Parts: sequence; C-alpha cells; structure tokens
Amino acid sequence: MSTHLYQLSTKLLGDTIGRMNDNLTSIVLAASAITLALGYVSKVMLKQSSAEKHLKYPPYIPSYIPFLGHAIAFGKSPIEFLENAYEKYGPVFSFTMVGKTFTYLLGSEAASLMFNSKNEDLNAEDVYSRLTTPVFGKGVAYDVPNPIFLEQKKMLKSGLNIAQLKEHVKIIEAETIDYFKRWGDCGERNLFEALSELIILTASSCLHGKEIRSLLNERVAQLYADLDGGFTHMAWLLPGWLPLPSFRKRDRAHREIKNIFTKVIQKRRSSGEPVDDFLQTLIDATYKDGRPLDDNEIAGMLIGLLLAGQHTSSTTSAWMGFFLAKDKALQDRCYAEQKAACGEHLPPLDFDQLKDLNLLERCLKETLRLRPPIMTMMRMARSPQAAAGYTIPVGHQVCVSPTVNHRLRDTWVKRMEFSPERYISDNVAAGEKFAYVPFGAGRHRCIGENFAYVQIKTIWSTLLRMYEFDLVDGYFPTINYTTMIHTPHKPIIRYRRRKP
Ligand code: HEM
Repeated sequence: MSTHLYQLSTKLLGDTIGRMNDNLTSIVLAASAITLALGYVSKVMLKQSSAEKHLKYPPYIPSYIPFLGHAIAFGKSPIEFLENAYEKYGPVFSFTMVGKTFTYLLGSEAASLMFNSKNEDLNAEDVYSRLTTPVFGKGVAYDVPNPIFLEQKKMLKSGLNIAQLKEHVKIIEAETIDYFKRWGDCGERNLFEALSELIILTASSCLHGKEIRSLLNERVAQLYADLDGGFTHMAWLLPGWLPLPSFRKRDRAHREIKNIFTKVIQKRRSSGEPVDDFLQTLIDATYKDGRPLDDNEIAGMLIGLLLAGQHTSSTTSAWMGFFLAKDKALQDRCYAEQKAACGEHLPPLDFDQLKDLNLLERCLKETLRLRPPIMTMMRMARSPQAAAGYTIPVGHQVCVSPTVNHRLRDTWVKRMEFSPERYISDNVAAGEKFAYVPFGAGRHRCIGENFAYVQIKTIWSTLLRMYEFDLVDGYFPTINYTTMIHTPHKPIIRYRRRKP
C-alpha cells in the first residue's frame, strides 16, 4: 500500500516536473519531490503505527489523491472549501495537501486556541521562516527566537507613533497627487496595479526615509519585484536552496537591496545630522540588554516592513475602490464627508481631520471584513493541542482563516453584504472576540494597523477629491485565488475628474 502511494505520488509530481524546460532545475525538483513524497509516506506510516487510540483527533477529510490530497480543490476555491468543511465537520477539522496535514480552527471560539497560545506550542517560525528569511534576510523576524522578534516589533511600533503618522499623512497625500497626474481627466485603468506602484512609493517615503526614497528608480523597483517573487506557494513548498530562476533572482535582489540600504544607513550614522524619521528610530533603538540594532538587522527590518505593508495595503485599497465604485450613493456620501470634516474648500489633509472621516473608516473596516488580505494565519503544532474536544497532534499546521471568520452565518447579519453601517451598532459580530481579525491577535498581532489605516484613508480621501469612480460595464472583480494574497481579477476601473 505504502509503495503504491509512493509510486503514484512520485509519478504525479514527475509528470508535472517533466513539463518544465530547465533540465537541471527539473532534476533537482524531481529529487526534492521524491524526498517530499518519501517523507509523506513515512509520516503516514508513522502516524498509523503510533496513533494513540484513546486520543480523539479532529475529523479528517479523506482524499483519494495521494500526496496532493485536497490541494486542487482548495487551490481553486479555498473559502468555499473551508465553508463546506465547516458545515459538514464543525469548527475543527484536518485535511492533507502536498504531504502536509492542516487543521483549521474556524469561528471565534476555536480560533482562541491560536491567539492565546505560546509560540513554543504553536510555532510561527516553523511555517513562515522558509518563505520570509530568504527575502528579509537573517537576524530578523522569523529567523530569530520569538522573544527577540517581539523586541524588534516593539522598536518598529515605536517608530509608528502619532508624531510620525502626522508627517506620513502629508507625504502620502503628496505622493498620491503626483502619481495620479498620469491618469488625466478620465479613462479606464488598472486600479490594483496603480495602487501597488503608489504604495511602494508611499511606504518607502514614510518607512525608509528620504534618502532611500530618492534612490527608488525603475532598477530598484525591479529589484523589489524580484524580491517579492520570493513570496509564492512554490517558495513555501520547495527547499530554498533549489536553483530555480525565481529563487536566484530573489537572492540576487536581496543582496543588492541590502547593499543599497546598508550604504544609506552608514551614511546616516556618520552624518550626525538630526533627523526625526522612522529610519532614525531604528538607528537609535536598543534591545533590552542595551545592544543597538546592527546595519544588517535594520536593513532586514526595512525590507520586511516594505513587503509586510505592500500587498496587504495595496490589495485592501484596490478592493475598497471597487466597493465604492459599485455603490455610487455611498461614494457620494464619502465625498460629502470630506467637505463636512475638512472644510468646503478641501484644504490639504491632516491627521486630526482624517480621524473624523468616520464613514470612510467604516468602509475600510468593511473592506477588511469581506476581503482580508491575509486569508490564513498558520502555526506548527510543536506539542499536542486541545481544541473543541479533540487533540491536534504534533506536526499539524494549525490555521485560522480571517476570511471565513468574517462571514460565518451564525455570527454576521447579512454576512455577504458590504454594509459599513454595521459598525455603528455596539454588538457587531454577536460580540465574539475573534470574529473580526484582519490584523490577527495575540503575540503575532500586526504592528502596522495604524499606519495602514492612515495610508489607505489618505489615499482614498485624495482620490475621492480628484475623481468619481464607476465599475466598467457593471463588472465587479472576481477573486484571484492563485496569488498568496487574494487580489482582484481584471481590476479595471472607470474614472472621471470630479467637477468642483
Ligand atoms: C491592510 C494592511 C495589513 C493587514 C491586513 C495586515 C495583516 C496582518 C496579520 C493578519 C498579521 C498576523 C499574522 C499571523 O498571526 O500569522 C500581521 C502581522 C504583522 N504585520 Fe501586518 N498587516 C497589514 C499591514 C502591515 C504594515 C503596513 C506593516 C508594517 C509597517 C505590517 C507589519 C506586520 C508585522 C511586523 C507583523 C508581525 C508578525 C508576527 O509577529 O509574527 N503589517 N499583519
């Protein structure tokens, strides 16, 4: 039986790999596929032999496709897959994909296991590090023990203080006005592409400082894109040392960007000029034991910040644009709110006025409910975990899905409707603690929430003042599930300059 499993899975992967052009790559890929398949088979056998009968494991969704398991069904439509499983098996269930067993904790109560857990029990590095370390570099984030990363997060958070955010509003407004000059008075354009480009510029201005922003030309943008090419399902599944073209590009881009950043950091250190910005906060920061961050750590953190905020914010901003374009009355109310909160003549934005844009804020909150950019948070079970009367064994990848929690039938009224007004009520989501978690919770919670709100509200305030938006022939983008963050498919929007 196990030999049969092994042969089948090896053949399946072998066939796929056989279609690839790069011979060397194919050989190495095939070798690693075989290793993975072997690992999978031995894991299955081990599980069978050591299963402790008295423990009740979560319900397991069977699959007749060896090794790949449910990868195809999940890849096609992950939310539908999880919602169906929830209906059938309840809030905790397991299934296999590409040789790994995933256990989902759906709903607020089940999710609390992840958010209240210790990192030693449900571990983040084990699942994220292979993806992030080649991109961010060594010495930061998931490459260091979690207590060190928590200290690094604290330093990052202190750089995103109110005084800095106030400056950021001006910078983001100026970058947005400048970027959208190329759009002219009316037309149909790719909104997601534009916002992705804009957000690299705004994030670089706000988080990297003016020296690095001034170096941001087409060549550097290409390096960011190559680095970003490291964030793929393939990079997550295959060993990082494989000589794949995308891995090589990623590694080269990482080295070059690190060089650029390191030169800027060293110049800033030696200039002695007092600058009050995010980069300076990191240069001046120290760990609890008094040790300052070295150049390598700062450069890694700058890369991490850019990428952590880039896709999350650009995807959210783009979806928000389509929700506003779909509902012209809501869009008009948001524009009216600009005048009511900021003044009839719409002076330049400032941080305090931004806080008064309550309707815009609720639109953003609702966008994050229906389209949270991170659809799954993951941890590795390093010790057996109890959830909903089951025991999750060591080695399972334990997952919580904000997307599913944000639309559970029993929790949310009119769950699929875009309704910013729902947040006016006190008892949103039946008061369940983890029903709304676009920024996660617990020790791994996002530190970029305030910055993301400031950034997206500033961009959309500026855009609403410039243009009126419409869907093109009524098309509201479908969801592209092939990317790690679920982006809008064919995100073309129609726009016309707003008459004063
Ligand atoms: C709309 C924007 C954003 C969304 C929806 C978002 C979402 C998230 C989520 C869900 C997590 C938790 C991950 C987990 O538990 O596995 C997280 C963590 C984090 N995010 Fe964000 N994020 C956003 C923007 C940003 C920005 C702008 C930054 C930086 C300036 C940032 C930096 C981080 C960091 C450092 C962590 C900590 C990871 C950890 O401790 O393991 N994020 N974010």
